[in-house]
Amino acid sequence: MARVLVTEEIAESGLQKLRSAGHDVDVRLGLSPADLIQAVAGAHALIIRSATKVDATTLEAARDLVVVGRAGIGLDNVDVARATELGVMVVNAPVSNILSAAEQTMALLLAQARNIPQAHAALKAGKWERSKWEGVELHGKTLGIVGLGKIGALVAQRALAFGMRLIAYDPYISDERARHMGVELVDLDRLLKESDFITIHLPKNKDTLNLLNAEAFKKTKPSVRVINVARGGLVNEADLAEAIREGHVQGAALDVFETEPLPANSPLRDPEIEDRVRLFPHFASAGRVTRLSTDPNKGMAGRCIQGLIDVLEGNYGGNAANMPYVVNKEAFR
Ligand SMILES: NC(=O)c1ccc[n+]([C@@H]2O[C@H](COP(=O)([O-])OP(=O)(O)OC[C@H]3O[C@@H](n4cnc5c(N)ncnc54)[C@H](O)[C@@H]3O)[C@@H](O)[C@H]2O)c1
Repeated sequence: MARVLVTEEIAESGLQKLRSAGHDVDVRLGLSPADLIQAVAGAHALIIRSATKVDATTLEAARDLVVVGRAGIGLDNVDVARATELGVMVVNAPVSNILSAAEQTMALLLAQARNIPQAHAALKAGKWERSKWEGVELHGKTLGIVGLGKIGALVAQRALAFGMRLIAYDPYISDERARHMGVELVDLDRLLKESDFITIHLPKNKDTLNLLNAEAFKKTKPSVRVINVARGGLVNEADLAEAIREGHVQGAALDVFETEPLPANSPLRDPEIEDRVRLFPHFASAGRVTRLSTDPNKGMAGRCIQGLIDVLEGNYGGNAANMPYVVNKEAFR
């Protein structure tokens, strides 16, 4: 039997699955980094979502840890390289919430084009502002997709149905694959120059951090609108706020932030730009959707937990994000 530490909210069905497999589940929400280091001592498995940072110090303190389960896609909050060195497996749920993220992107794309949140807020405040919030049509507009992976491809499919022209920057995708999706691959400069809307679907790492920064915004059309449903930090928030103030960027809709929850003093909360910035609480993957009547969180948790149980039972399933040469703990068996 393994002791499984769970530090973020996970669907009950997933926790039940662990208990049914004979494991001891210890749910401890809202731990500080120092509390996490204490709590992880003696745990064989750790389950997290996006808020818990599993850095080298935490991994080194977790001397009995065999596996980290990330219920979701991004692994930017886990030091996977150090985990590998320490013989700790990392499993995630790489296809769990891609549809939710793609649909959220479309929602933000439409909301921006039609000024939906602004018009709604104005009417609720008693103002009938038809012309102030007049929208633009997506049809014929150019959508620049930065990162044409799983989510980027789903967004491309959906945007094509709206009659958009699609261009993408992704140096790891072949021209042929992009062409099959109805997308023209371009370099980043051309994408910045030609896009009416830019949506970013990249992993967060040292190459992608601050990819959309002041220098990039100087190259965009002044009418461009930016969407980030991927990870905070891919778009530099101070630079984006400044670009909106200076008129290099028309607006932005963001689901993810450099610091979450978004701090009260964030440059994105500047009253001067508030009409043009739409902010959402990292909930692209948090809503209930109807696909096959599944809840994406249950899907995420379920897939991640199955991977974690596989590892605890000594089998390495398809959800492994690393492959340590030696998995170094046997004590819990
Ligand atoms: N907001 C949410 O709740 C939510 C939900 C799901 C996923 N996400 C995030 O969305 C992002 C995309 O997820 P995905 O499943 O599509 O990932 P993916 O790995 O399938 O696609 C990422 C794409 O980015 C490309 N890429 C990598 N480095 C690049 C670089 N330097 N420049 C240009 N392109 C580069 C890759 O070639 C790949 O095609 C991830 O950061 C993930 O964490 C967020």
